[in-house]
Amino acid sequence: MNTQSEAFLQQQAATANWTEVGKQRPHESAVLHVLGEATYTDDIPEIQGTLHAALGLSHKAHARVHGMDLKEVKASIGVVAVYTAKDIPGTNDCGPIIHDDPILADGLVQYVGQPLFVVIADTHDNARRAARLAKVDYEELPAILTPQDARKAQSFVLPPMHLARGNCRQALERAPHKVKGELYVGGQEQFYLEGQISYAIPKEDRGMLVYCSTQHPSEMQHVVAHALGLHSHHVVVECRRMGGGFGGKESQSALWASAAAISAALLKRPVKLRADRDDDMMVTGKRHCFYYEYEVGYDDEGRIVAAKVEMVSRAGYSADLSGPVATRAVCHFDNAYYLSDVDIVAMCGKTNTQSNTAFRGFGGPQGAIAIEYVIDEIARNLGKDQLDVRKVNFYGRNDAEGRNVTQYGQKVVDNVIHELVAELETTSAYRQRREEVRAFNAASPVLKKGLAITPVKFGIAFNLTHLNQAGALVHVYVDGSVLVNHGGTEMGQGINTKVAQVVAHELGLDLSQVRVSATDTSKVANTSATAASTGADLNGKAAQDAARQIRDRLTAFAAQTFGVDASTISFADNKVYIDGNVEAFESLVRKAYNARVQLWSDGFYATPGLHWDAANMSGNPFFYFAYGAAVSEVVVDTLTGEWKLLRADALYDAGKSLNPAIDIGQVEGAFIQGMGWLTTEELWWNKAGKLMTHAPSTYKIPGISDCPEHFDVRLFNNRNVSDSIHRSKAVGEPPLLLPFSVFFAIRDAVASVGDYKVNPPLNAPATSEAILNAVEAVQAAQAVGA
Ligand code: MTE
Ligand code: MOS
Repeated sequence: MNTQSEAFLQQQAATANWTEVGKQRPHESAVLHVLGEATYTDDIPEIQGTLHAALGLSHKAHARVHGMDLKEVKASIGVVAVYTAKDIPGTNDCGPIIHDDPILADGLVQYVGQPLFVVIADTHDNARRAARLAKVDYEELPAILTPQDARKAQSFVLPPMHLARGNCRQALERAPHKVKGELYVGGQEQFYLEGQISYAIPKEDRGMLVYCSTQHPSEMQHVVAHALGLHSHHVVVECRRMGGGFGGKESQSALWASAAAISAALLKRPVKLRADRDDDMMVTGKRHCFYYEYEVGYDDEGRIVAAKVEMVSRAGYSADLSGPVATRAVCHFDNAYYLSDVDIVAMCGKTNTQSNTAFRGFGGPQGAIAIEYVIDEIARNLGKDQLDVRKVNFYGRNDAEGRNVTQYGQKVVDNVIHELVAELETTSAYRQRREEVRAFNAASPVLKKGLAITPVKFGIAFNLTHLNQAGALVHVYVDGSVLVNHGGTEMGQGINTKVAQVVAHELGLDLSQVRVSATDTSKVANTSATAASTGADLNGKAAQDAARQIRDRLTAFAAQTFGVDASTISFADNKVYIDGNVEAFESLVRKAYNARVQLWSDGFYATPGLHWDAANMSGNPFFYFAYGAAVSEVVVDTLTGEWKLLRADALYDAGKSLNPAIDIGQVEGAFIQGMGWLTTEELWWNKAGKLMTHAPSTYKIPGISDCPEHFDVRLFNNRNVSDSIHRSKAVGEPPLLLPFSVFFAIRDAVASVGDYKVNPPLNAPATSEAILNAVEAVQAAQAVGA
């Protein structure tokens, strides 16, 4: 063996197993989070002369405003200015798609909590105190509060959507069995720990810099520019991180960004607008609640042969993202099941409440829970195990099996739900525990256990094709350190860690060599919201593209300098292996710099193969599907309605995970958050349309003690069929559907009261009160039947 090839073998050995992706890595800000040193918008040191704003809110759900007496507001201590709609220099609108969202109400209020004016004072407290002193002359108008009433009144924010395949009516008529019913699934407050906040700083020549807690810096830039009557190039929006967004800062950060920027522009002073928790909950939209009416036909095996559903959501007073949310609900009504003949109508009810918006899953959970509810009933009607009925309805594995085209016409080519559920069935000892639960219930008159397993299939990509693009900038500095900037935003989900891993991997560097800087509209332009779980997919690819260009230039330079073939050069271990020679990355970089090689690059990515016909609700909207399943076991006290999650096992398909530690964290977090939605988190408006659950004292999100003692979360061993970033799959939203299993375990426990013969009429959230009502309904139905 000659020395040349020996050196080459050494090189191969050094680089063969080298990787920075697929490794368990702590969140890039984990240490800062724990030490309290991570900078959120409110932690940015304030510039001298900074003022503080607060919003004056409507007290009526629907009213004409004949006048506002703001004398006392203006005279209040510390107040510098008060602005209303007429003071806005540009357009009074902060709506993301349809422009029906005034920043400040002008003559008409449409919900309790709608901002009427902004007051600017020397301190946050003085601004808030002053905001309460307005005297508003209202002429009340009739208000619509619920989705059911909106449907009755045909009050919609946009025209109803309709998706039909096959001949649903005929299939229903021919079906051996039918189930018909209704369901209501409540909304959910995002409850990000860091509330909405914007800090606007005027710059020279009409420029405006806005630090904003937002998932969508580019849209904030547009909204602020329009509100100020300026162009996008006048406005810079920056976001280092959010203390959670969960969809609530996709469009709804716009109100705060524009109100702060308008005030700052008019006063030529920095203005910060930070919402107090109650105001945040009163003003901003939440997850849409949905009301459904369904009629489903099925055969003796429980296989669905026809499914008809009408769903209406509580959109609130304006469109916001209600259209796309409804679209996603329609595209997820199938969940993991093949529905041959379907008829789906989705309506966005215009109500005099907060304008509902994105929330983790973005309508997907609301679409899928309806079919799960129906399957749960079918199983009970047939006296079969829910799991068996689910299985006969799963999408086919391949073309030969058929049954593999969704209701919107996309072929499912990556189906792993059969294998995934089979694995979970075994690892969770589902069948054995089903027997144990039955035995327990037979011997326990008051405490009843319930068990359920539910699957998830979730489409990844924005339905709207053009949003599926991303950009990045990678800088390699002369000392070999790397700075990355991309269009995604960090909200705790770990996007920066994943993107840094991707860049480190391309350049053969340790993760510690790569830093990610704040998202900034002056660095990467025209970004999409970090949403639809696509953040790491899109921005990871864009950053990979940028890093590859730099690596290619370094490779070409090294090949030339060392007189070797480019194919003999590889990057690993902070080194560059050049046909047997080893050069520190930093040293090669310095040489390249001296030779005037460009050491920074932009990168771009557009997801291939997508198309969506919104008018016909058909196409290929998703790049791939992510899958998962969970088994939950609960115990319910049938005298009080109290319950506890005893054990949860979840298996999630993150493809070839970029970072299993982060992905497992995402699954755990989404599971508990989804459980909160379906159980304890109840939004309640009084008859006058005032949201009464606007603080943690009345709105109960899960706490640490609600996590089950046995919580087993695993990643399914898989690899994305689609060419996603390192064959990983998105993880942000789909696991929010896993705790359907908690809801159906509760329903199972309640059903045991009627010997599993009666379908408990249980809506979500399954609060203790709702559980108790369902128990009584089952007992009453049984008494009638007996
Ligand atoms: N995880 C944390 N910790 N905080 C958040 O706000 N938002 C979720 C999810 N996970 C969120 C989160 C939502 S709604 C989405 S769409 C995705 O993260 C967005 O990030 P990604 O696309 O990078 O996964
Ligand atoms: Mo997530 S609801 O798409 O921000």
